[in-house]
Amino acid sequence: MRSHILGRIELDQDRLKQDLDYLATVPTVEEEYNEFSNGFWKNIPLYNATGGSEDRLYRDLDGAAAQPTGHAAHVPYLNEIITTVYNVDRLQMARTRNLKNAIVIPHRDFVELDREVDLYFRTFMVLEDSPLAFHSDDDTVIHMRPGEIWFLDAAAVHSAVNFSDFSRQSLCVDLAFDGDFDEKEAFADATVYAPGGTPDIPHRKPFTAEHRERILSLANVIERENFRDVLFLLAKLHFTYDVHPADTYDWLIGISKRAGDDKMVEKAEQIKGFAIGARELGERFSLTTW
Ligand SMILES: [Fe+2]
Repeated sequence: MRSHILGRIELDQDRLKQDLDYLATVPTVEEEYNEFSNGFWKNIPLYNATGGSEDRLYRDLDGAAAQPTGHAAHVPYLNEIITTVYNVDRLQMARTRNLKNAIVIPHRDFVELDREVDLYFRTFMVLEDSPLAFHSDDDTVIHMRPGEIWFLDAAAVHSAVNFSDFSRQSLCVDLAFDGDFDEKEAFADATVYAPGGTPDIPHRKPFTAEHRERILSLANVIERENFRDVLFLLAKLHFTYDVHPADTYDWLIGISKRAGDDKMVEKAEQIKGFAIGARELGERFSLTTW
């Protein structure tokens, strides 16, 4: 796992609550890359390329400054955190992200963009304690605690889940650099940068050949009509068992082959390529049309 804790801030719960109350009033809309998720997944842009309150697509700014959206003025505490904790000269996008009773399937980010992936620097801070909400990064599952500022290695295969209805509002601040950089350059406030914190890594059960065989036996129940459901089911398993998130797609391909449906095999291979391989900016994918 390359994701790690960069530092921690003490959240002012009274000020935070006012911002969270505003965010709860913003209507939920269809998300960019909503094929990656099911359930409640709500992203609200606070800073982005255009200042548009509905502009949710992450893209390169090419040296231009990120603009505050109409939402930024309604969340003064989060706006203060963004502009005083982080290096706004490198800011690409800042948004709140919430996930409830939902999963974002394993994927890699930035593959549709121009920079070398190591020049993108995604930070993530959970704002609320949600005990059944987790992130994964390659070989590790993480439970983030409120106030921890994480470097999230979005160029690796990663996933996020909330197995509960507890709100897991979070602040995702994306920075980008033009060349070699030290990660402390991500911060305007040097006192916040304090790496080396011990993360909360939940225990996962061992994964055996028997588990794999039970998974592949889903060939007995998979249909084109539940293909998407099977994918989301498979994507949840690596949070419980010690197995790589990318195995989700190899299981889906294996199940589809065993079911003997060539179209299904093709779609399983395509979603694997789309999520963790290469894709074009704005390219979309359908799990439900055949
Ligand atoms: Fe991601």
